[in-house]
Amino acid sequence: LRIAVLASGRGSNLQVIVDAIAAGTLDARVVGVFSDRSKAGALERARDAGIPAFTLRPRDFDDRATFDNVLFSQVEAVQPDLIVCAGYMRLLSPHVVEARPGRMINIHPSLLPAFKGLHTHQQALDAGVSRHGASVHFVTAELDGGPVIAQAEVPVMEDDDAATLAARVLTREHPLLRATVEAIAARRVGWQDGHATWEDQP
Ligand code: GRF
Repeated sequence: LRIAVLASGRGSNLQVIVDAIAAGTLDARVVGVFSDRSKAGALERARDAGIPAFTLRPRDFDDRATFDNVLFSQVEAVQPDLIVCAGYMRLLSPHVVEARPGRMINIHPSLLPAFKGLHTHQQALDAGVSRHGASVHFVTAELDGGPVIAQAEVPVMEDDDAATLAARVLTREHPLLRATVEAIAARRVGWQDGHATWEDQP
C-alpha cells in the first residue's frame, strides 16, 4: 500500500505509521509527507525516515480551492493508494475530497459524531461526558463527518484539564491508527456506497 500523509503538526501519528512499517506489521510504504506548515515536526520526522517531504504555504495561494488543487496534484504525483490526514489542520475543499471516495482517512480526537472540529478535549470537558476518545474515519466533504472506521475510548477523570485529557487520548490514538491502517493494507477494511465495511473487526 502506498501511503501519502498530510500533517500540520508534531507528527506523532505519522511516526506510528513509519514505525509499523519498520517493524514489519504494516505492509506499506510512505511515499510522501505533505504539510501546510514549514515548521511542522512531521516534516522533520519524514526526512529522518528518508521520506520525501513537501511544504505548501497557504498564503502563497489566492484561495483554498487553488491551494488544494496544487497540493493534491503534488500528492497524486507520488501515486498514493491511501491518503492519511494525521493532524492536518486545514479544511479541505469538497471537490478534492469528493474526487477520492474511500481513499482518504482522518484521525480525529473525539468519539465521533460527538465533538467535531477544533478543541475537542475542551468540548468534551464542557459537555461533562465520562467517556472520550478518538476516531478514524473516511474523509467526506462534511468536516469530521465521514463514516467511522474504528474508535478508541478513554475515561474522563474528575481532575482532567484539556491537556491531561489530550495526552490520555493520544496514547490511544496511536494504536488505533496503526491497527486501522494495517487493516486497510490487509484489505480487511473497505469503502462501499459511502460506508466503511469491515471483515473480522477486532
Ligand atoms: C492528534 O491529536 C490528531 O488526532 C489531531 O491532531 C493531533 C496530531 O498529533 N487531529 P500529531 O501531529 O500526529 O502528533
